[in-house]
Amino acid sequence: MGEHYFTEAPTSAHAEKEIAVELKGRRFRFVTDAGVFARGKLDRGTRLLIEAVDIPEGSVVLDLGCGYGPIGIAAAVLCPTCRVYMIDVNERACGLAMRNAALNGAANVEVRCGAGFQPVEGMKFDLVLSNPPIRAGKRVVFEIIEEAARHLKPGGRLVLVARTKQGAKSLLRKLAEVFSAAREVEKGSGYRVMEGITERMNRE
Ligand SMILES: C[S@@+](CC[C@H](N)C(=O)[O-])C[C@H]1O[C@@H](n2cnc3c(N)ncnc32)[C@H](O)[C@@H]1O
Repeated sequence: MGEHYFTEAPTSAHAEKEIAVELKGRRFRFVTDAGVFARGKLDRGTRLLIEAVDIPEGSVVLDLGCGYGPIGIAAAVLCPTCRVYMIDVNERACGLAMRNAALNGAANVEVRCGAGFQPVEGMKFDLVLSNPPIRAGKRVVFEIIEEAARHLKPGGRLVLVARTKQGAKSLLRKLAEVFSAAREVEKGSGYRVMEGITERMNRE
């Protein structure tokens, strides 16, 4: 009881449940479990983000806070020429993300367990996608935004989703502060999808 979905090593009894969902016209199956975000369902914010995001061919993509893997796996299946990295601090989530990648035939993904960008230190991405851990606190989410800017290639994008009532507007303000451009991409069902874009010019 009372265990957060962002616990590193959940101790709650396993209660696996497989779900089938359609995203952008494709069928996906995901095994979910207790101790991992959104057990037995696809979060509405996650769906809104996947449906809203445009993934250019050949992108190097990061799904930060992947949970059981819906965002990264959908990106990998919808963009077979992309290379997708998925990170979560929760070991149980990482295990599920690996299994779900195999279950959906996504060979172009790599799951790395750890906190924040530490497991991909030194790497640069075209696109960082995240349904961030709002419950871990604003400090953690603001740090993800700042670190994303450091890990994006010129012209790269960070796309986030958050509940309107859980501070989506303050995230948009933070995006505008950190990135050269920020905007709301989509809204619906009480959620907002927002993006921050880095300058095209190489600033290295
Ligand atoms: C809101 S959930 C989203 C999960 C999944 N992407 C989805 O849409 O169903 C946020 C995820 O971030 C993970 N998380 C929390 N703090 C983290 C951190 N510092 N680094 C990496 N992942 C973290 C949690 O374990 C959780 O799986």
